[in-house]
Amino acid sequence: MLKILIFGKNFFSIEKIIYFMSANKESWGTRIGLILAMAGNAVGLGNFLRFPVQAVQNGGGAFIIPYLICFLVMGIPLLLIEWGIGRHGGQFGHHSTPFMMQSLDKRRIWKYIGVFGIFSNIGIAAYYCFIESWTLSYAMHSAMGTFFDKTQPQVVEFFDHYVSVNHTVLLPFEAVIFYILCLFLNVYILSKGLSQGIEKVAKILMPLLIVFGIFLAIKSLSIKAGEQGATFDGVMGLNFLWTPDYSSIANPRVWLNAAGQVFFTLSIGMGSVHCFASFVKQNDDIALNSMTAGWTNEFVEVVLGSSIIIPVAIGYLGIDKLKELAELGGLAIGFRTMPYLFDQWGHIFGAVAGVMWFGLLFFAGITSSLAMGMPVMSFMKDEYGFSQKKAAYTFGLITLLLGLPTVFFFKQGVFDEYDFWTGTVSLFVFAAAETILFVWVFGMKKGWAEISRGADIKLPVIYKYIMKFVTPVFLLAVFFGAIFKPEKNDWSGAFSKLFSGEGWSLDNGSIIKQILNSELREKIAATSDLVLREELQEKLFLSIGAKILLATVFLVIAFFVHKAAKRKNILTSHQ
Ligand code: ALA
Repeated sequence: MLKILIFGKNFFSIEKIIYFMSANKESWGTRIGLILAMAGNAVGLGNFLRFPVQAVQNGGGAFIIPYLICFLVMGIPLLLIEWGIGRHGGQFGHHSTPFMMQSLDKRRIWKYIGVFGIFSNIGIAAYYCFIESWTLSYAMHSAMGTFFDKTQPQVVEFFDHYVSVNHTVLLPFEAVIFYILCLFLNVYILSKGLSQGIEKVAKILMPLLIVFGIFLAIKSLSIKAGEQGATFDGVMGLNFLWTPDYSSIANPRVWLNAAGQVFFTLSIGMGSVHCFASFVKQNDDIALNSMTAGWTNEFVEVVLGSSIIIPVAIGYLGIDKLKELAELGGLAIGFRTMPYLFDQWGHIFGAVAGVMWFGLLFFAGITSSLAMGMPVMSFMKDEYGFSQKKAAYTFGLITLLLGLPTVFFFKQGVFDEYDFWTGTVSLFVFAAAETILFVWVFGMKKGWAEISRGADIKLPVIYKYIMKFVTPVFLLAVFFGAIFKPEKNDWSGAFSKLFSGEGWSLDNGSIIKQILNSELREKIAATSDLVLREELQEKLFLSIGAKILLATVFLVIAFFVHKAAKRKNILTSHQ
């Protein structure tokens, strides 16, 4: 097989020649556009819904220290690694992870590991766009005054009704309409391409999001006890979050959750950062760009994300009630409580705040879901010659088909199943693999040179060592922690039991027990109520079905990667 062709005095590898012939030669219009799009990729529902709840569930000030450490030793290194892999892959015409990974090391296994970078995007987009579509609908309802004078239980009921199958038409009618509308908007923007679609949208929506966020944060923090029905001052929320509790450092549960949040919020391990970075020119800076996008995300998350839900909820409901609500998950507060709380500010102001809040969530959501579409579309364009439009509509169709089960069976846990496998486990597996590939197989020396080429800032050399030793150890620790999570997430209790010979009992949320659906099986075995048993059996059936469906999606992508690799081999061996 001829590896090098000679044109005059220039040497070109076969891969580069294929790139010159390829149709996918999009590029970013401006640097600010790239940074805003990359920040938009990171800033998402995770910043405003997931982060505050994680912070509350993990003890407020107790959460912040592990969170910031995870950001510094996993978040930043992984951002640099992903930008590095992306820009490196881009020079060979690869804009999705399977062949980017292979361009760092020829072993065939890497391109199959790269499948995660397409799989996660499809899986996450499917359920993420569903929440995104709620924000559209809730913005409309806020403007229409649907939540005026509603009690808190009525607002909760509204949400429950929204996501439930309506027995007269046998589908959650409004939810389906908004889901399709939301997907259509995504597809339409994606079909316009990188600079005319994603970049343009990010340039408009990101500044608007920050303005809305600042407005809501100021209003929330200025809540005064005794005014407009508030019981406490809004600023109490800041005390709760920013009074450090050093005891949490010894609690693995907090570390696991902090690491999970850092991954989700930075969109690490998904393949979308790689894809955006692959459209950067070879000698353009990636060091400063990645840091700017990453720190913008942190500003939005830590400053704005923690200054809306937490102060408002504490102001009106108090810390204990907020903790109780947080146990129900991030969405509970965002959709089931916030419209009621905003209404305390009066109809007009409440409606404006509602439109801003759900509008902000929509802007955050769509700039992230667009980024999820790009790697999938790039794979179709690079490997199968799809046009931009055809790739966008194909992505929309796949997302719709995969997403509908989360819409129809939201209450039966299909949504959570997708979130766990594609939005958590898959990200860790891929991030651990790409770190090993980049720092150990490709090599830190070459890796550091790749990241530093064209850099507008000098990266602290300590990051070379953090990337090589600390990040992989952290990732593996977190991953094994998730596999073997002990009962009730009580690590000290689990270790003392282990040392006293009582063995290790796994939590129902551990990866092993999730695979086995242990929680549902235990509940089925324990109940004698026939109606409940039937409900649980339906949940079990759907949960197994969702796993099989996701595994099938993974295998189908792997098959297409395999086919594409074969075509490449034929092409190169014929030169
Ligand atoms: N990074 C995106 C978010 O935080 C996925 O929602």
